[in-house]
Amino acid sequence: MQIVSTIDELRRVRRDWLRAGERVAFVPTMGNLHAGHLKLVREARARAPRVVVSIFVNPLQFGAGEDFAAYPHTPEQDEARLREAGVDLLFLPSEAEIYPHGREGGTFVEVPGLSDILCGASRPGHFRGVATVVAKLFNMVQPELALFGEKDYQQLSILRLMARDLNIPLELIGVPTEREADGLAMSSRNGYLTPEERAIAPALYQVLRDVDAELTGGGRDLATIETAAATRLQAAGLRPDYLTIRRAADLQLPQAGERRLVVLAAAYLGRARLIDNLLITLD
Ligand code: PAF
Repeated sequence: MQIVSTIDELRRVRRDWLRAGERVAFVPTMGNLHAGHLKLVREARARAPRVVVSIFVNPLQFGAGEDFAAYPHTPEQDEARLREAGVDLLFLPSEAEIYPHGREGGTFVEVPGLSDILCGASRPGHFRGVATVVAKLFNMVQPELALFGEKDYQQLSILRLMARDLNIPLELIGVPTEREADGLAMSSRNGYLTPEERAIAPALYQVLRDVDAELTGGGRDLATIETAAATRLQAAGLRPDYLTIRRAADLQLPQAGERRLVVLAAAYLGRARLIDNLLITLD
């Protein structure tokens, strides 16, 4: 595995692969890699002869008072895992390499509409930060494929829209969420949970599954289902930010007769803000 930290070095390697006609699959990450990230890498490996992973904790996607300074760093462990997973190139840029004009001095990418709802409503500027860094990374790496976890369903929807609107020539692939044995979606932020909170956390997925069962069982009063589910989250000890049933295609409110839905939730638990979602197809 080659490790580079500058765009020039990255481009040199990329050019050689282009000359050799080798396609590139790209997995952007913020490090502290867990089994969910490694699943993205495995999927990338299966789809292209060359795999690039980036690790960059992107300051632009953290709001004031969020966990940028505390975000977990595990560089040696990450490097070993990526080597073992057969990654060809690890891109480890500095902040100055990505944002040479500072955090506020450069061009931003905004995806209107979708960026201001759900997680975007509680984290203003978050998706602008995500879209900006991912657009820049796409231009640096120039991959044919890019892979993202479905756990961040809203992020995935926004990035699909961004790639389409900016005519970025790549295929964007969503990979199903990797879960702990008790159903908790894998996330670097799970590390913030105390043992007591960790025991409560699987309730989030359990409640999403309950919503799935209610909808597939014929329940159609979405508002009542959502309110009851949020109450169950609260009773379990979580503090719901939102729990909502949306159209899977575009995260808008479902019309009657809509068949492809997604139930999404975010909830606070101690220092952590947990998110999860479940795709639901109705007959
Ligand atoms: O999902 C993440 O880890 C980040 O939002 C991403 C896509 C790497 C952009 O910083």
